[in-house]
Amino acid sequence: MRVDHATYKKIKTYFKRQDLLSWKPFSNRSIGTSIGCFLPCDTDIVFYLLDYLIHKNIISEGNVFCDNGSGDGRAMILANAMFKMPSIGIEGEDKYYYKSRTHIRHFIAKKLIDDEEVIPILGDFRSDESYQEIKYEFKDVKVHFNYQTNARFIAEKIFLQGNLGTVFLHHNFLEKPLNFRGLDLTLVLEATKKGQIIEIEKDDKKRKKKGHTSYYMDVYTKNKY
Ligand SMILES: C[S@@+](CC[C@H](N)C(=O)[O-])C[C@H]1O[C@@H](n2cnc3c(N)ncnc32)[C@H](O)[C@@H]1O
Repeated sequence: MRVDHATYKKIKTYFKRQDLLSWKPFSNRSIGTSIGCFLPCDTDIVFYLLDYLIHKNIISEGNVFCDNGSGDGRAMILANAMFKMPSIGIEGEDKYYYKSRTHIRHFIAKKLIDDEEVIPILGDFRSDESYQEIKYEFKDVKVHFNYQTNARFIAEKIFLQGNLGTVFLHHNFLEKPLNFRGLDLTLVLEATKKGQIIEIEKDDKKRKKKGHTSYYMDVYTKNKY
């Protein structure tokens, strides 16, 4: 698949501007919400990580994607615009949910995302009710994403309710990957500051807790019931 860098540049520039306007990107701290914390992902890192996973055939263009705790919607917008993934985003905090709707409208107007296939939900990602009014069910989601927020809840739900082969992408800056019941850790990626993606050993002793400047993507697969 050829990556459309011109489209990506528009997404990157837009969210960079949002960060400058409404969030303090250099304060190096997250903002508390009623149910977790809001820290927007770095679009470069998520873009390159998803691209890498597609090239490794771990996920595919067109897979249904869900950002569990979707904040201002940037990961779901990116997944749809760049990789044609139908995208769901579940956010529990009104303020960020409404921001995500504004951003989605912007990219629909620019014809960069599909208005039927980018679905923001105001709700709790732990709850089945969040899927009640949309055309997808929890088990239709092939790629679950979470940026270090209440990850254990979504991992357990994937184990209990997801289809075999469901992939869970845990984006984080932790010292080591978490263990989740029923999910196999299949790959550990590190995004370097220069935007390179490297595969690292699953039990890499050199892995450090790096703060908000370097990131890991721990990739899990549901292989058993
Ligand atoms: C670290 S931010 C990540 C935002 C977004 N995924 C991104 O990468 O830019 C986590 C978000 O998850 C939301 N959140 C935490 N627990 C949640 C839950 N159980 N259901 C829905 N949203 C949740 C928080 O309100 C916050 O906006």
